Amino acid sequence: MRNFLTTADWSRAELDRLIDSALLFKHGKDQAKPLIGKSVALVFFNPSLRTRASMQIGIYELGGNPVVLEPGGTSWTLEHRDGVVMDGDKTEHVAEFVRVLARYCSAIGVRTFAALKNWGEERTDPVLRSFAKYSKVPIINLESAMHHPCQALADMMTIREKRGAERKRVVLTWAWHPKPLPMAVPNSFALAAATMGHDLIIARPDGYELDDELMSNIRAQSAGAGGSVEISNDIAAAFADADVVYAKSWGAKQFYGKAESDIENRVQYRAQWIVDEQKMARTNDAIFMHCLPVRRNVIVTDGVIESPASVVIDEAENRLHVQKAILTKVLGTEC
Ligand code: CP
Repeated sequence: MRNFLTTADWSRAELDRLIDSALLFKHGKDQAKPLIGKSVALVFFNPSLRTRASMQIGIYELGGNPVVLEPGGTSWTLEHRDGVVMDGDKTEHVAEFVRVLARYCSAIGVRTFAALKNWGEERTDPVLRSFAKYSKVPIINLESAMHHPCQALADMMTIREKRGAERKRVVLTWAWHPKPLPMAVPNSFALAAATMGHDLIIARPDGYELDDELMSNIRAQSAGAGGSVEISNDIAAAFADADVVYAKSWGAKQFYGKAESDIENRVQYRAQWIVDEQKMARTNDAIFMHCLPVRRNVIVTDGVIESPASVVIDEAENRLHVQKAILTKVLGTEC
């Protein structure tokens, strides 16, 4: 049994094969329906447009039956900690929830964002790990506190489609946002870009560093793939000669549990840390990427997101194709 929790668990060759498979689905060259007679549970602790719609549609297109559950909404509130006395507001433990679902379903997808309250705890992805611990069927990470591997795979597919499979100068830039956001998307994008051997530049203000252990992994993946990793606190300089610009905002580790402090601290970055036409003009005719949803004229200007450089809709479409490839693979019916 194989989970899809982070791209770090998958080799570059395996990720390339998943993208190959996704391209076959996209171009109608793979019409297989390996999920006929099978159900897949999709557990959403948090809101979603792309992930929910693309997973439901992808499972349908593969012949299967998606079962969407929302703990605390359409299903019971869930406790994930072991050994806890459940006399609070949580009705069911993940231990039973997952084991029951595994009797009905062939795989379980789960979305569980960071609460941005306790960095030391959330960086270990406790809810996702609890699902993986108790499941006898594959778990697919639909965005956890630390990783969004389906998004990252769609991003790598989009770069390959738009700019070719060769090594590229890829800028991941922090952007100002009125409130702190989770780090899963930048973590997974940086990790996947490193695994694919791109030259990765992470631009962010001081204080908005990614996780130290993750950065070590990113550097190791990059070295193994023949790429490079640079860190910059100068957004304009980072854009020079970029082939790809990927924007995302995230919260500072030091301010987990202190959102108001992060909001106060980031005010100074509002004017400069936005993707605009002037910065894009410094690039090597770069494509503009964002996972969506995006706040216009906050993260990126209308001019950039509406320009021919913007590939955000293709990127969102590719979620459907890569997830069909992932489902096919983890359910053992691979292409
Ligand atoms: N990019 C992404 O995961 O979008 P949703 O949050 O709408 O699913």
